[in-house]
Amino acid sequence: MRSTSRYLLGGVLLACLPSATNAFYLPGAAPHNYEQGDPVNVYVNALTPMLTGSDDSKLKSLINYDYYNPRFHFCPPEGGPQSQPESLGSILFGDRIFTSPYDIKMLEANGTCQTLCPAEIPGEDAKFINERIREDYALNWLVDGLPAAEMKRDMKSGDLFFDMGFNLGNDDADVPYLNNHYEIVLRYHEPSPGVYRVVGVLVWPVSRGGPQGDASTPTCDIDVPPLYLSETEVNNVRFTYRVTWNESDTPWATRWDNYLHIFDPRIHWFSLINSIVIVTFLCLMVAMILWRTVSRDISRYNAIDLSEDVQEDWGWKLVHGEVFRSPSYPMVLSVMAGNGAQLCAMCGVTLVFALLGFLSPSNRGSLATVMMVCWTLFGGIGGYYSSRIYASLGGVDRRKNAFLTASILPTLVFMVIFMLNFFLLVAGSSGAVPFSTMLLIVALWFGISAPLSTIGSYIGSRQGGVSHPVRVNQIPRQIPPAPKYLRPWASTLLAGILPFGAAFVELYFVMSSLFASRAYYAFGFLALTAGVVSLTTGTVTILFTYFNLCAEEYRWHWRAFLTGGGSAFWLFAYGLFYWMSRLSLDSFSSVALYLGYLFLICLFDFLVTGTIGFLASYWAVRRLYSAIRVD
Ligand SMILES: *[C@@H]1O[C@H](CO)[C@@H](O)[C@H](O)[C@H]1NC(C)=O
Ligand SMILES: *[C@@H]1O[C@H](CO)[C@@H](O)[C@H](O)[C@H]1NC(C)=O
Repeated sequence: MRSTSRYLLGGVLLACLPSATNAFYLPGAAPHNYEQGDPVNVYVNALTPMLTGSDDSKLKSLINYDYYNPRFHFCPPEGGPQSQPESLGSILFGDRIFTSPYDIKMLEANGTCQTLCPAEIPGEDAKFINERIREDYALNWLVDGLPAAEMKRDMKSGDLFFDMGFNLGNDDADVPYLNNHYEIVLRYHEPSPGVYRVVGVLVWPVSRGGPQGDASTPTCDIDVPPLYLSETEVNNVRFTYRVTWNESDTPWATRWDNYLHIFDPRIHWFSLINSIVIVTFLCLMVAMILWRTVSRDISRYNAIDLSEDVQEDWGWKLVHGEVFRSPSYPMVLSVMAGNGAQLCAMCGVTLVFALLGFLSPSNRGSLATVMMVCWTLFGGIGGYYSSRIYASLGGVDRRKNAFLTASILPTLVFMVIFMLNFFLLVAGSSGAVPFSTMLLIVALWFGISAPLSTIGSYIGSRQGGVSHPVRVNQIPRQIPPAPKYLRPWASTLLAGILPFGAAFVELYFVMSSLFASRAYYAFGFLALTAGVVSLTTGTVTILFTYFNLCAEEYRWHWRAFLTGGGSAFWLFAYGLFYWMSRLSLDSFSSVALYLGYLFLICLFDFLVTGTIGFLASYWAVRRLYSAIRVD
């Protein structure tokens, strides 16, 4: 069931390709073969707050800390920790990977208790550590590309699964205990004799109190009281670990399956199919009704023109001389639509990549990297759409349009990220985007995206605006008062419900993976949802545009964009609800961070769905008015 859901569409698409999966491996996806005695490196990643697994648990913070943050006093390797090279997306998503002092060799020292190092933790730092334990922080290690996990049981299905990361400490009845001993179980698979592959990394962290001093004969007995760190004096702590090698039948190719546990896949399926069916049905119905009404309108308009001398117009035909009148602020509208088109293309291509299985979880951060690269390369699409829409809306200042299209959204996003970075730095977090990465992104934007956007604008303005089937009258018509549900805000909120409803199920999983570092690889679901959302957005926007025109309200351009983007407002409300129900953020930095990210997500959603709505309406209005005869 689990893999069916994940590969739902990916499988369909892959079936069309020759089964070339064995012929090549993507970087980071090739298996690493070990012989007995080969070193198996443990890498340490930033500490992240974790959901403790039970259904009512809440995430208490959003701030990551470097593993080697001096206040933790974790043992560094000899010669100091070395930073590991990472992809752009991995850095953006908060990975900070370093070497570690764990000395692990394939199939050696099975079950031997080993001392890592003694550490002295002063009271102040103990206080810091205790706070992090109370906030359910987790350690994140990587062994052979696999995250170290705790084995947990899904309460509903009873399945065992690997929950990535393991606890920094335990918080029993509000007394925090530090875990200073790690039971590491490495699962290996032997594809051919003498060749071993790591297929599972489990860590059971244990808090071991008692005397911490003598390290010559370490013991790893669990029968000692847990270790409490005093916040007033210096604590001596000894970090120990024990590695157990356990053979497993899991082949290398499916080693990620345990990690990508989907909680309650049946509910997931049911609600998704439910919403898809309802929404598709609604869309079809709306489209059919619209189609029939419109064709009846058209035949009546055209019949009257033929049979009667005195022509009496009604409905949307009345405003034929107005529909293509330039809206107010054509510049802003076209820049938004251009950027929206760029984001649409980015989302589409990223989803295709994900469905084809290119974004395997072993390529850390590949999703974000592909998104960044696509966004950069699709600068041309943004420029092209923006300039053509601008020309269609009767704009003349093309240079300004090209400049704003290439610059305004990146600048806005940068400003938000910059502010969030500031909060992260104040909180002493490692999550702040490093300066070098910032420079790289600016270089990508300035060096590739902006020039491409300018070229796109040039091509777009050479082609000029689209032709309109009817001419615009000299003098604008009076607009009668519109019914309440057609007021801009009412229609925005009304129309937003449907696409939001279609995405609602998936949204929960996406939010959990974004904020609670749960793995998200149900790209089949996501692609289906994205398809349904764009379909719904387009249909609903066309419907509202039709209503507006029937009510002789011809200023449809902005309304179409707003109505299309209506789901973003629901998304924001959902974000606030998620905050109330799933997060209990206690620091100001976490709150600022959450709201900042939520704002960015909603902004992108608004631009993408708004553009879909606007373009769909534009298409429909042109079709509509080219079907009637106007003298
Ligand atoms: C390591 O020890 C565990 C139990 O202590 C045992 O089950 C396992 O088979 C051992 N592994 C190897 C490779 O000897
Ligand atoms: C090793 O694997 C076996 C079978 O999968 C399991 O029963 C056993 O508990 C594992 N041992 C450890 C130490 O995890």
